[in-house]
Amino acid sequence: MDAIRVRGGRPLKGEVKISGAKNAALPILCATLLADGPTLLKNVPALRDIDTTAALLRFLGCDVVVDKERHEVRVAATRLGRVEAPYELVKQMRASVLVLGPLVARHGRAKVSLPGGCAIGARPIDQHLKGLEAMGAQIKLERGYVVAEAPTGRLKGADFVFDMPTVTGTENIMMAAALAKGRTTLWNCAREPEVEELARILNKMGARVDGAGTDVMHIDGVEQLAPFEHSIIPDRIEAGTYMCAAAAVEGSDVRLSGVILEDLEALVMKLRQAGVTVDREGEHVRVRRDGPIKPVNVTTAPHPGFPTDMQAQFLVLMTRAKGESVMTETIFENRFMHVPELTRMGAHVEIRGRSAIVQGVDRLDGASVMATDLRASASLVIAGLFAEGETEVRRVYHLDRGYEHMEDKLRAMGADCERVKGAEG
Ligand code: EPZ
Repeated sequence: MDAIRVRGGRPLKGEVKISGAKNAALPILCATLLADGPTLLKNVPALRDIDTTAALLRFLGCDVVVDKERHEVRVAATRLGRVEAPYELVKQMRASVLVLGPLVARHGRAKVSLPGGCAIGARPIDQHLKGLEAMGAQIKLERGYVVAEAPTGRLKGADFVFDMPTVTGTENIMMAAALAKGRTTLWNCAREPEVEELARILNKMGARVDGAGTDVMHIDGVEQLAPFEHSIIPDRIEAGTYMCAAAAVEGSDVRLSGVILEDLEALVMKLRQAGVTVDREGEHVRVRRDGPIKPVNVTTAPHPGFPTDMQAQFLVLMTRAKGESVMTETIFENRFMHVPELTRMGAHVEIRGRSAIVQGVDRLDGASVMATDLRASASLVIAGLFAEGETEVRRVYHLDRGYEHMEDKLRAMGADCERVKGAEG
């Protein structure tokens, strides 16, 4: 397993280009199952999760070509031989559940492995299943698999209220409704930018989706959807991660290209409250850290609240603050696994229920630490950027799921870091 070694203390300077959004690319790749013919996706990030999704689409019978150099993926979902997503693939990436809606909608049947729990929480998919049932699907659970069937061969439009805003739950039902017979109205939808991007794609394919980005959506099903070409929006969580990285090291001054600042307003507001300078400069966003970091309290929430995917990265920043801050995680029940690793580096963090109480310290000491999930991995690399001495972040396959060449992008901004192939796990 690879590791990333970082020697702390160098401020980040220069420019970083933000890659396409992983959490937009994944549902959009699954949406290609809704149409016949060649689809071309551009600005697709070169990530392990994209490879896993490509493998799943191939398993279903799609022709898929991933061009990492050009950041393009071509998919033709013309001859599907299977409608099953096997455990071996779903266990690698729970977002594989996003083939459920498209397969039932287009082929009347799907058999998808239940994703099981994951490091950050139970993450059930009950809302996905209840939404499909509301549209007439019959759902059975068989030996760890969900078997969903449209008894008449076609789902029908329905009214459905999500019990909570769920990103992939909203996306699954949007894709199913696009080919259903009649109108579907969804309440309490997720409002993330990636949900809006999926709606843009479905409308490009000939669907009629209205209200994406708000908590109420209307979708009028059509008979057929067409393949499409599209360039994926930039990854707001990757952008936010590099903003926190720059903020964490005194003297940093970086410019991020390919950032939609409107998608990160909650984070930007909190960074500014912490004393970080964040300015729009033409097509770029400039982030500077000149003075001390002030303590700021954060509670994660569905968009447009503070993103749970930014909690670990911001918490690391708060270990540098002059004073106490409280980070409260309301979305997932176990998303503080970066804390024990940071504590080993000298951070003072106490977990109380769903909150982490952070007492800022003057320094962290480099150490060998273990990545546990995607965003926790990123937070440990950020800690290494300012810790005294060397930090080795192990099991960075977690990082490779969602960050394209992180060590290269950091090194290009002056960080002293490199990837260590085949390091001890
Ligand atoms: C998406 O996961 C993202 N993944 C996650 O990003 C992100 O952390 C999460 O949304 C929250 O923003 C993708 O988009 C591929 P949810 P998702 O359904 O859709 C509960 C990353 O780091 N829930 O919005 O799986 C659930 O347990 C990843 O890139 C149910 O109870 O998250 C959680 O508490 C990690 N039943 C809450 O809702 C359901 O049927 C929100 O989960 C569905 C969800």
